Amino acid sequence: MEVAYPPKIADLKKRLEEARLGGGLKAIEAQHAKGKLTARERLDLLFDPNTFLEIDALVTHRATEFGMAERKAYGDGVVTGLGRVGGRPVVGIAQDFTFMGGSLGEMHAAKIVKAMQYAVSIGAPIVFLNDSGGARIQEGVDSLKGYGDIFYMNVMASGIVPQIAVIMGPCAGGAVYSPALMDFVIMVDKTSYMFITGPRVVKAAIGEEVTEEELGGPLVHVSKSGVAHFIAKDDKEAIELVKKLLSYLPSNNMEAPPRVDTGDDPLRTDLKLNTVVPEDPLKAYNMYDVINSVVDRGTFFEVSKDYAKNAITGFARLNGWVVGVIANQPAVFSGALDINASDKIARFVRFLDAFNIPIITFVDVPGYIPGTFQEHNGIIRHGAKVLYAYSEATVPKLTVIVRKAYGGAYIAMASRHLGADFVAAWPTAEIAVMGPEGAAEIIWRAELAKAKTPEERQQLMAKFTEEYRQKIANPYVAASRGYIDAVIEPAETRPTLVKSLEYLLTKRDVRFRTPPKKHGLMPV
Ligand code: HXC
Repeated sequence: MEVAYPPKIADLKKRLEEARLGGGLKAIEAQHAKGKLTARERLDLLFDPNTFLEIDALVTHRATEFGMAERKAYGDGVVTGLGRVGGRPVVGIAQDFTFMGGSLGEMHAAKIVKAMQYAVSIGAPIVFLNDSGGARIQEGVDSLKGYGDIFYMNVMASGIVPQIAVIMGPCAGGAVYSPALMDFVIMVDKTSYMFITGPRVVKAAIGEEVTEEELGGPLVHVSKSGVAHFIAKDDKEAIELVKKLLSYLPSNNMEAPPRVDTGDDPLRTDLKLNTVVPEDPLKAYNMYDVINSVVDRGTFFEVSKDYAKNAITGFARLNGWVVGVIANQPAVFSGALDINASDKIARFVRFLDAFNIPIITFVDVPGYIPGTFQEHNGIIRHGAKVLYAYSEATVPKLTVIVRKAYGGAYIAMASRHLGADFVAAWPTAEIAVMGPEGAAEIIWRAELAKAKTPEERQQLMAKFTEEYRQKIANPYVAASRGYIDAVIEPAETRPTLVKSLEYLLTKRDVRFRTPPKKHGLMPV
């Protein structure tokens, strides 16, 4: 039976229904035809049922030029509000492509800024679902002002609440900088792209012919540029990824991430770890085997998995506590550090430190990748970020030296000298200024020069290398100095880390008090 509402209530209902439809039914159909969900459908997937509290549903733009006075829709092309994800408050911002291509004008931007202010004031993560043609051309400088205000809020919110951007459509020009200022970027396969200048401008400016996908598609950004951290096959999977990511994060920088009972025995040992490192130090193995064995079963959630694969970064749980895992990957470039791996590690360390997440570092690093490409592109500057980030981090820092820890890279990878709280080494650890081969070449140069045949030189090398390994490249020299806290049987890594983590959860950083400063100067 149809209810007869009083006129003012009926009028409100009509307006809210219009707001719900955004740019209208035809535009919604077009959105679906592209394989994309609408802004509201996306937020429905994100939030726990019946928790969404919409804000500013009745906002409209104030532009009058270029026919804008006649072209209005409630909401102005973006849906904003608060909801719950897994019971915890989250601010959701979803651009609505069905109204003027989700383009960003003055009021559209003001809604986004207001939502972000809510997030900071209540201490809730921001999830920004991007789907927009960029600056609303008809609104000119008001639109640019709106972007500026959003970027400013991204920076103000940085380190206070987690910020997650999902790119679910176009994201071009300066618009890319809001996601770039956020902590994590998820891109949807096939339907999303990000670039500063699109293919048409690229062709006109430098004659290069390139498709949108090749220029700034998800694959490019997760593997080459490192701009995006995750790729999702569709909108639904992207939202699932957001929820999974949120489950590892605290709501804000004043909280710890929620602990959950994973049912995995904290004292579980794994004999397989005793043989994971090959006898031959030049042979690779897969660091994922170590990580997955040590952390709570099935909890490792990798971040930036396709970028700089010589380094591994991700979240995991250890006896239910959230930890950040950082590791060298000996199976890629022997685990050596380069520019991209340094950036990946430094950025992740800073995120973990900002949000009270302890860091566990697994080390097997022979040094830095040599050559003009790395040097000319600033491995010195980028590598320094790793030192800076680890030194600056005050969350519990636990380190396991699995095999190689050579030279500057030994220091950089969460060594005690940069403030690690607990450093364990496996008996397979080789801690030295350089690899035994390189060291032998220098120390025994004169003796090696006396060799009469290549065979004799090779024999001498084998002898000297072994001597160096025996005397220096082992964990016991470092253990005798207290640079490492324990040499452990690999099988015991999990219980050892659980114990040390749980003692360190109440850590107060008392190592070094600096005089007051505005901020340090990380070599960004
Ligand atoms: C106003 C816009 C718009 C924009 C799209 N629309 N982008 N309106 N300002 N920036 C409108 C379209 O006119 C169209 O309206 C509707 O949105 C849907 O767009 P379509 O073109 O039909 O959709 P599609 O074919 O999917 O193409 C999407 C698109 C294309 C690739 C985004 O619309 C496009 O190239 N738009 C212009 C993008 C752009 O140059 N933006 C400025 C970038 S510079 P109708 O009425 O036809 O339905 C920038 C600077 C930011 O953003 C600086 C920040 C510091």
